[in-house]
Amino acid sequence: MGATGNVGGALSRLLLDEDVKVRALGRSPERLEALTMLGAHPYVVDAQDATRLTEAFRGSDAVFTLLPHDPQEPDYRRSQAQLGEAIVEAIAAARVSRVVFLSSIGADRLSGTGPVVSLHDQEERMRELTGVDVLVLRPGSFFENFAHALPLIEDEGILADTVAPDVAIPMIATADIAAAAADALTTEEWTGVEIRELLGERDLSYAEAAAVLGEALARPGLSYVQVPEADMEAALRQAGFSPDMARLQLELNRALSDGTVVAGEPRSSRSTTPTSFEAFATELARTVQPA
Ligand SMILES: NC(=O)c1ccc[n+]([C@@H]2O[C@H](COP(=O)([O-])OP(=O)(O)OC[C@H]3O[C@@H](n4cnc5c(N)ncnc54)[C@H](OP(=O)(O)O)[C@@H]3O)[C@@H](O)[C@H]2O)c1
Repeated sequence: MGATGNVGGALSRLLLDEDVKVRALGRSPERLEALTMLGAHPYVVDAQDATRLTEAFRGSDAVFTLLPHDPQEPDYRRSQAQLGEAIVEAIAAARVSRVVFLSSIGADRLSGTGPVVSLHDQEERMRELTGVDVLVLRPGSFFENFAHALPLIEDEGILADTVAPDVAIPMIATADIAAAAADALTTEEWTGVEIRELLGERDLSYAEAAAVLGEALARPGLSYVQVPEADMEAALRQAGFSPDMARLQLELNRALSDGTVVAGEPRSSRSTTPTSFEAFATELARTVQPA
């Protein structure tokens, strides 16, 4: 699933490189075209459609699944529940026995984590499945989120959000999540429901992230500004977030700031992943500063 997205796209390419047969799911044949050219079998499906999703899953050795994320949804948790129920229904109906599910740190908590609560709900649905071995990946915050900050960095010369500036947070490259998923799908066994945290190369504060981005973007001294929630809410609404989703995003930022959303276990060699934020920032800079 999510084959045209950050994690699913990189995962599909890694599996194709290993000569694994890949059925690439997404809603648009045009967006799936690049993977089709690489040898994937495209499957156009909206995850709300449990019947079609069942057809897409049927016959597969394993399914990589996520909850597609639409910040415009007026009732985010309800829409995520509809997608989540359809996905679980399709896994059961298609008799899939191995699943990798993309969740998040913080998904252990019942409430107070913004959109991550929907990932908690989906983990619980996965636990209800019988005869299915589910590997739950719980990554930290994606490096790729900072790509959305580029216009503000360009226009105003600052990185701005509501997250506390000095709190170190697990942050990760989506390529590293894809690599962990590919590794699991091709070389590993797991039974029942297994949880695995993926915490990036190191914890990173927003202030530190701004400094690294500044270096990479040739804006030394780029600073992080923690803005009031009302300002951030207005910016999110302007960017197309529904009122519900803007509220949830602010809740998540509060939870990251006050330590509600943290890794559940101490960092280990298994939960630590290779790509540094510096390496990501250098690549990001290449996309905006063509040589
Ligand atoms: N951002 C973070 O910091 C963070 C941290 C932890 C966990 N997560 C979780 O990671 C997930 C997002 O992963 P990502 O960044 O790899 O995804 P992404 O880049 O946002 O891509 C979403 C994918 O889902 C597909 N999609 C969207 N709506 C769909 C629908 N209704 N039916 C079928 N496919 C649909 C999209 O394909 P088409 O549009 O082509 O159909 C696309 O391939 C979310 O569940 C999020 O909660 C995010």
